Amino acid sequence: MSDTASITLNGNTLELPVLTGTEGEKAIDISKLRDQTGHITLDPGYKNTGATKSAITFLDGEKGILKHRGYSIEDLAEKSTFLEVAYLLIYGDLPSKETLAKFRSDIKGQMMVHEDMKNFFAGFPSKSHPMGQLSCLVGALSAFYPESLNPNQSQEEEDKTIINLLGKMPTIVSWIQKKSLGHPVVYPKKDFGYIDNFMNMIFGEANADKVFDDAVLDAMRILLILHADHEQNCSTSTVRIVGSSNANLYASISAGINALWGPLHGGANQAVIEMLEDIKNDGGGVEKYLAKAKDKNDPFRLMGFGHRVYKNFDPRAKIIKKACDDVLAKLGVNDPVLEIAKGLEQAALNDQYFIDRKLYPNVDFYSGIIYRALGFNSEMFTVLFALGRLPGWIAQWKEMRDNKEPIGRPRQLYIGEVDRVYIPLEER
Ligand code: SDX
Repeated sequence: MSDTASITLNGNTLELPVLTGTEGEKAIDISKLRDQTGHITLDPGYKNTGATKSAITFLDGEKGILKHRGYSIEDLAEKSTFLEVAYLLIYGDLPSKETLAKFRSDIKGQMMVHEDMKNFFAGFPSKSHPMGQLSCLVGALSAFYPESLNPNQSQEEEDKTIINLLGKMPTIVSWIQKKSLGHPVVYPKKDFGYIDNFMNMIFGEANADKVFDDAVLDAMRILLILHADHEQNCSTSTVRIVGSSNANLYASISAGINALWGPLHGGANQAVIEMLEDIKNDGGGVEKYLAKAKDKNDPFRLMGFGHRVYKNFDPRAKIIKKACDDVLAKLGVNDPVLEIAKGLEQAALNDQYFIDRKLYPNVDFYSGIIYRALGFNSEMFTVLFALGRLPGWIAQWKEMRDNKEPIGRPRQLYIGEVDRVYIPLEER
């Protein structure tokens, strides 16, 4: 099979290299196209365009496969821990017991957030959206750790910045949750693990630690692992392109948080619950909402359905749907929107519009139901997505920097006015 692609322009034929990835994917390398032909390619939304070579995550959208550094998401969700997956994504291999213990301990040692951060955190209105607060607070960390601004940090200094952010994020998330309730913050505890520390900072009291059912802690473990990375999605591409200008890690992650906020991306998990609540309050019938989703004149979309890459089941959605059933049963939670979600899924999967467009439930369709059963309000759902995605963003930022990739700067096809003569205002 040819390892070149021929393109003929104005009678001249150019041979372009065809690259093959380790999972058999094919790519045409067009990096010399403009120099050799004066032409660029055009691909709004980058639906057919690869921005990089990456060794972190592999997706097969047709088969519904997701792997991190060669390990299946099913295995990692069932057998691993969030910090082990975080280490795997960032450093490329599963850690030894000793390495993981040091990674955990170093992160725990960085969970305290500088008290001066409260000075501007206090300025947020208590009902301001958590994602806006999160992006601001994460970006502000660069003010407290100015050494992170050095684009030529040593590997040791970069690792310290990575550990610092992994430690600070759960505490910052808990501050935002406590602020939404008007409650005092709860500080991290030295004898707690990462997830029970996080959950205690969220739901505990200053003088009364909260004890959690193992089912709750395990559900949180699964949700964080499932959100950890997803190759070159909108927010990850944002982190990479911001980092490509030599912007520091905090600034790059803050940019990724803002990209994730959009309801077409990570904000969908909040939008799904709001949609399911609307359907419940409207009598629970799903046919009306399927019709709205198919109506081109109606801006309504079936939130939590469809995906740029998956044209089959999102493997994460399958795992979350099962976790939903398990957790709600163990907690004795009977959430009517779960049955509405299942009814909606069944109706959509048997509807020709959705079948033709290969629209399946994605990671956001069921996640909000679990988050709600765990006690989070819906405005916190995308913040929880960001907490899970943090190691993936860090891994992608690090890979881009380690590979010394050039600053990201796409081209365009100009379609505006050509030559116009300027007429001064007084003469117009
Ligand atoms: C995430 O990229 C990632 O990996 C993201 C993510 C990650 O882990 O980082 O997986 C997380 O963002 C998941 C997606 C969450 N978003 C939603 O659930 C919002 C609802 N979904 C859609 O808006 C949409 O499916 C997208 C944004 C997810 C994907 O959009 P695309 O790939 O640009 O596809 P499109 O908008 O061009 O849709 C193709 C067709 C269109 O119909 P036609 O014009 O061909 O007739 O499918 C239709 C769309 O109208 N369509 C939908 C639909 N999604 C697509 N119709 C109704 N409801 C939907 N949800």
